[in-house]
Amino acid sequence: MSDADENKLEEMTTKAEQAVKSLSYEVEMLDKGDLSFVGDPRLDKLLTENEKLKHRLAILENAIKVEKAGSSGTAKKEPRKRPKLVTDIKSVESNVCVMNELENVFEVAIASAYPDLEDPPVAITISGNNPKFGDYQCNSAMAISQLLKAKNIKTNPREVANNILNKTPTSPLIERMEVAGAGFINIYLNKTFVEHVLSSILRFGIKPPPTKREKIVIDFSSPNIAKEMHVGHLRSTIIGDSIARILEYLNNDVLRINHLGDWGTQFGMLIAHLQDKFPDYKTHSPPISDLQAFYKESKKRFDEDEEFKKRAYSCVVKLQSHEPDYYAAWQLICEVSRQEFQKVYDRLDIKIIDRGESFYQDRMDLVVKELKEQGFLEEDEGRLIMWGNPETHDGIPLTIVKSDGGYTYDTSDMACIKQRVQEEKGERLIYVTDAGQHTHFVTIEACARRAGILKGAKKLEHVGFGVVLGEDKKKFKTRSGDTVRLVELLNEGLVRALEKLIEKGRDQVLSPEELKQAQEAVAYGCIKYADLSHNRVNDYVFSFDKMLDDRGNTAVYLLYALTRIRSIARNSQISSDTLLAEAQKSGLKFTHEAEWKLGKVLLRFPETILKVSKDLYIHSLCEYLYEISATFTEFYDKCYCIEKDKDSKIVKIFYDRLILCEITALIMEKCFEMLGIKTVSKM
Ligand code: ARG
Repeated sequence: MSDADENKLEEMTTKAEQAVKSLSYEVEMLDKGDLSFVGDPRLDKLLTENEKLKHRLAILENAIKVEKAGSSGTAKKEPRKRPKLVTDIKSVESNVCVMNELENVFEVAIASAYPDLEDPPVAITISGNNPKFGDYQCNSAMAISQLLKAKNIKTNPREVANNILNKTPTSPLIERMEVAGAGFINIYLNKTFVEHVLSSILRFGIKPPPTKREKIVIDFSSPNIAKEMHVGHLRSTIIGDSIARILEYLNNDVLRINHLGDWGTQFGMLIAHLQDKFPDYKTHSPPISDLQAFYKESKKRFDEDEEFKKRAYSCVVKLQSHEPDYYAAWQLICEVSRQEFQKVYDRLDIKIIDRGESFYQDRMDLVVKELKEQGFLEEDEGRLIMWGNPETHDGIPLTIVKSDGGYTYDTSDMACIKQRVQEEKGERLIYVTDAGQHTHFVTIEACARRAGILKGAKKLEHVGFGVVLGEDKKKFKTRSGDTVRLVELLNEGLVRALEKLIEKGRDQVLSPEELKQAQEAVAYGCIKYADLSHNRVNDYVFSFDKMLDDRGNTAVYLLYALTRIRSIARNSQISSDTLLAEAQKSGLKFTHEAEWKLGKVLLRFPETILKVSKDLYIHSLCEYLYEISATFTEFYDKCYCIEKDKDSKIVKIFYDRLILCEITALIMEKCFEMLGIKTVSKM
């Protein structure tokens, strides 16, 4: 279709639309029962006209669609392949994702009820705590009814919901469904299905839900050499490690990168200071264990002493041209720093590969050259800058080369994103830093896309987080106003955790070895959990008192809950082999409402993990863990697992319930593992 034709067609469409609109008042009045038009001879004429125009509009819209598809060179969209549905309970594996399967079922149902709608929304949610609303809901009817209205098809959400319900294929997951309220479809799960899946978890273990394996680069922790590793870096370390654990659990190829700030002008002053203070640093390792103090001293000299400043600058130049002495001094400083960081990583059980900014030196030269040649760089007061969008100049440009010819954080991140895409073949590029760097990463992404480094669906995912606050709601500082050192923070955690355990008399029952394990699990677990259980975008208040509370959504409460569940099995003296044999022999049967409720919560493990792996909001995994433990408590209050007589002799064993305990413990342990929290069998 030529441009002129297209314009004409659009003009006609607009006219038809206007005509329809101008009639809408009359039609609305009639709908409302305003009969003042009745008998007016113009009315019939108008209504007929309205019908004709609507018809004409639909034809025109369709014509535009067909023409557009043809003229843009793309063939007509292939109809979407419908998902294969589960038809037989026996074929269902322990890692089935109920949410996904329900989405598939309703995709098929909606496609068959409304074949003319292109990509209709399939919205499935968990129904929440009220059993009146079923276990899951399909909420697509409202949106679909809107879509239909836009096509001038008169309907309402309840009618749509009924149509969908009538077209829903039978699924072994679903016991029954009903239309409720404004047009919700309540879905009730089939008990036999849930029993089957849970007993196969016991038999075959918990397996990750199947997903497409991807190469994922995750950049986290990333402190700066010689500068303090502050609580912000602790957040990045904890959140990044947990995200990596989740993505690894789902069988992705995950590269954990520590993008250390190990290159830049500050190294000039550090080297100059080192040369003065420890001239024989090459043969004797200087005692600069306190690098932060060392950094402060050199910074002071740099600011006050012109001579020193000059020498510091010349050191940078020499370092950048790799003069051996300067390079050796730089390596030494980095090494001291790295050893400090490593202590934190070891204590928190975190694996990460150091690959700092210095790694990109040559790659920076290359990327700058390419960006220059391709005409992406603009001069701005001696600097070379790059805009994400050169037309609108939205946001802030990157500074690719400084006026003195040096490179910046922006330059290294451009070289870095290129390396991750082209050399690492990264499909997901994740960066975990404080929310303050959001604009930086948005600009890096825009520039990388503009330069053709990022293409298609590939994108940069910035996982931002808020600031850590003290209990006074101000920036987290020590009493004397200094930044809190991570090592000291972890030490305080250990002291406080031990106090808590002693307060509860645990030192009386645990062996010294067990007590130490519990102390470490509680200390590091509570710090990690307090961070992970809050929505990361918010600021959060660091409070040992709160995180060591054994009530509420805390690591301490949850670790206790888990050991209690474990002790149920211990007290009943039933081995897991016996349980397994029981499950194989007679399967699992829910007889009590509380068992059934717990079973359904346990079944949500795969969908919870999948959701977190996509949106990278870990607090939903913590909420899930807390929900498991709360639902378990409710179950355990109502259901005996073993019955004893007055002499404490076991007289009856409820195997099904012990099986539920076992699966609850298994799933909780998996969740803890993904949060990077160690569990203990006794606490
Ligand atoms: N070193 C930076 C900081 O302390 C974080 C680096 C994040 N990663 C990156 N590729 N820019 O804020």
